[in-house]
Amino acid sequence: MTCKARTAVFISGNGSNLQALIDATRNDTSFPAEIVLVLSNKADAYGLTRAREAGITTIAVSHKDYPNRTAFDDAMHQIMKEYEIELICLAGFMRLLTPDFTQKWAGRMINIHPSLLPDYKGLDTHRRVLEDGCHETGCTVHYVIADMDAGEIIMQERVPIIAGDTVEALQQRVHAAEHRIYPYALKEVAEKLLG
Ligand code: GAR
Repeated sequence: MTCKARTAVFISGNGSNLQALIDATRNDTSFPAEIVLVLSNKADAYGLTRAREAGITTIAVSHKDYPNRTAFDDAMHQIMKEYEIELICLAGFMRLLTPDFTQKWAGRMINIHPSLLPDYKGLDTHRRVLEDGCHETGCTVHYVIADMDAGEIIMQERVPIIAGDTVEALQQRVHAAEHRIYPYALKEVAEKLLG
């Protein structure tokens, strides 16, 4: 029997990275992680439909139902305990997490970000990259720490910027790179976790 890291994916929207992770974990029987739960802070996130279609348990928790960030993060932590989650992948989860939550999941929570960190932390990366006249950008998978987009880098892929690129064109090219590296990064982290 193979032992797989019980993984939760946190989303807020489309979930194309979630889909890449679902496909990778399903297409390789020896993949060291299995996605057992998809959590969204938005009930209408399309990623929830992707998860349901893949037969994965979904949970929508609205931060609006909690008095503050700590209460929201505590509720998510309880859910993780309930489902015996060992690893969390943030995949377009657009909520900042409290230092307490990131501390509890240190070394066991990873995120994908659409730039070559440490450059272009935060939102709206593609517009800023284009405005700055950069020749390349990329994407990064990193461990999550309390500071935003700042944890140890696990994997990156460079993406060229082509003359005349629009935000949408660049976003599409970066997305394709994200879908390539996130499964590899998850594999690496899960293997390390399982020892
Ligand atoms: C991805 O490009 C991801 O890098 C980004 O949100 C997008 C989600 O797309 N995340 C961040 O900007 C986090 N700082 P998806 O829902 O199709 O996977």
